[in-house]
Amino acid sequence: MTETTSTPLAPLTPDEVAAFHRDGFLVVTALTSAEEIIRLQAIYDQLFAARKDFAAGDRLELAGIDDDGHETLPQVLSPEKYAPELQHIQARERALAIARQLLGPDTERMGDHAILKPGRHGAATPWHQDEAYWDPALEYDALSFWMPLQEATVENGCMQFVPGSHRDDVLPHRHISDDPSVEALEYDGDIADLPVTACPLAFGGATVHGSRTLHYTGPNRSDSPRRAYIMGFGRPARRRAEPRDFYWQRPGPHGS
Ligand code: NI
Repeated sequence: MTETTSTPLAPLTPDEVAAFHRDGFLVVTALTSAEEIIRLQAIYDQLFAARKDFAAGDRLELAGIDDDGHETLPQVLSPEKYAPELQHIQARERALAIARQLLGPDTERMGDHAILKPGRHGAATPWHQDEAYWDPALEYDALSFWMPLQEATVENGCMQFVPGSHRDDVLPHRHISDDPSVEALEYDGDIADLPVTACPLAFGGATVHGSRTLHYTGPNRSDSPRRAYIMGFGRPARRRAEPRDFYWQRPGPHGS
């Protein structure tokens, strides 16, 4: 039997495709070049330094201001709207090709966002499934590329996953500290007995994960910023026969 090799149209090997469907995530060691990462760093830092000109809700603080007045988990939604040069990057082209290989040829772009963990002040992004933020009336077949714009380590907040968790339905979530004014959601359950895989990445690497894969990034304990650029892709969402109750998305105290 002939071994299938990767081609530009099928960038992943069959083993990598199988690993994604088995584990719910995959490490892509070279999504783009170190040169592109360095170029993106400068665009990214300008975007976060800009304090004005964002549409309402496009620049958020996910976790809250710390006691010293520092942002701990600032996020920019749709950064490509504010820095159009982000539209045409090699990383996106390759990510789309991989997404189509994993989900199917009708896979299209969803949204981009950027999450910064400032050096020493960057907060953990709690365990969650991305789909917990989305519309409970829709059925998704979607994934996200998480591309750090420097190396990612356990110390500065690389991605960590629970392998196989993508086979679960959407699990109960809550706002951090049960405070609805805090944007970030966290899985409302115990992770302690579950296996966890941390995925450090070199320059140009990325991880891919499904919309129900439980994931987490730790606080940034390094002196340098930890920049993450996230690109979403999915097949067209369909209306579900049975809508789900994502009660954590309703305003007010949960469970009421
Ligand atoms: Ni996420």
